[in-house]
Amino acid sequence: MDRFIIRGGRRLEGEITIGGAKNAGLKLMVAGLLTGERLILSNVPQIADIATMRDLLRQHGVAVENVDAEGRTLSIGGPIESVEAPYDIVSKMRASILVLGPLLARMHEARVSLPGGCAIGTRPVDMHLKGLETLGAQIRLENGYINASAPGGLVGDRVVLPFASVGATENLLMAATLAKGRTEIVNAAREPEIGDLVECLNRMGARISGSGTGTLVIDGVEALHGAEHAIMADRIECGTYACAAGITGGDLRLIGGRIGDLGAVIRTLEEAGVEVIAEENAIRVRRDGPLQGVDIMTEPYPGFPTDMQAQFMAMLSVAEGASMITETIFENRYMHVPELNRMGARINVHGSSAIIRGVPSLSGAPVMATDLRASFSLILAGLAAQGETVLSRIYHLDRGYEAVDRKLAAVGASIERVRE
Ligand code: UD1
Repeated sequence: MDRFIIRGGRRLEGEITIGGAKNAGLKLMVAGLLTGERLILSNVPQIADIATMRDLLRQHGVAVENVDAEGRTLSIGGPIESVEAPYDIVSKMRASILVLGPLLARMHEARVSLPGGCAIGTRPVDMHLKGLETLGAQIRLENGYINASAPGGLVGDRVVLPFASVGATENLLMAATLAKGRTEIVNAAREPEIGDLVECLNRMGARISGSGTGTLVIDGVEALHGAEHAIMADRIECGTYACAAGITGGDLRLIGGRIGDLGAVIRTLEEAGVEVIAEENAIRVRRDGPLQGVDIMTEPYPGFPTDMQAQFMAMLSVAEGASMITETIFENRYMHVPELNRMGARINVHGSSAIIRGVPSLSGAPVMATDLRASFSLILAGLAAQGETVLSRIYHLDRGYEAVDRKLAAVGASIERVRE
């Protein structure tokens, strides 16, 4: 297992290019299941989750080919030979559940392993299943698998989600593109990645309106066709590097970052004393003055994203005064807290809230990554800490961040990957 060795205390300055969004790219690849024609996706990030999705699509018999040498542009398409998403892939990556709706819509049947829990919570898929049942699917859970069928095809209906789940919205949205008649998804999630998916689906011939609002209206069509689409920039990667500028008192230009997608993250950075400047095709983030404690509550978009919670916690651990973070999306997303405390942070967790009492400085220590975003919070802490931090289990990080060591080293960080 690879490790990162980080020597802290350096101010970061320079440019970092933000890659394609993991959470948009994965769903856009799945959209390739909705047509036999070619879907060409560009700005594909080079991360492990994308490779896993490639394996899953190939398991369904669909061709996934590199258009360029690097694999930044992919061509997806072809006949579906298997409607099964097996346990070994689904257990590796929960987003695999998103093949359920598209397979049902195009093939009228699907067999997808139940994802089970993960490090950050139990994460059920009940809303995905109930929504698909409303569209006429018959669903049986058997031997750890979801067996779903819709012999005459799916039929549009009104689905009211009890919570604006990102995954349930996307699964139903994709399924509804090929259902008979009109589907309405009420209390749909509004994350920008869903907007990117809608844009691509409409390019493929789908008829979806209401993008960016809480109600999506989908008029089903007979078939979708091929299209070309560039994956949006990763707002979470962008926000993460903004925190790197914040915690090191640095000055970073984040190329490709879009302020409009970041919503509450920008406001919170500014409240914490970090300056954010919109530039053409970039965001500049810098800090000269002290960091200030702020209170944060994670919420569905446009609220503060749960995927930025751990990174802000690292930054606020060296702010003046106290901060309170309340996590409302996942029940177990504080696994980075004991690790940050081992580096000298003063954080107490009470139920779903954490109180962070700012300390003047952190000190390097051996720490362990537990999930994707938590891993980066430990890198941020290491960048600001005195001395050396050794971060192990960085395979969590490789799932969703591309070339972390290269990007950070290019702006002045001392970070080295040790291969084992
Ligand atoms: C997506 C993102 C993830 C992000 C999350 C919230 C991807 C691949 N992942 O995950 O990075 O942290 O949105 O912004 O895009 N829930 C249920 N029943 C369901 C579905 C969800 O109870 O059927 C619960 C979940 O357990 C969780 C909450 O709803 O507590 C939010 O989950 P959801 O919005 O669905 O997140 P994901 O799509 O899994």
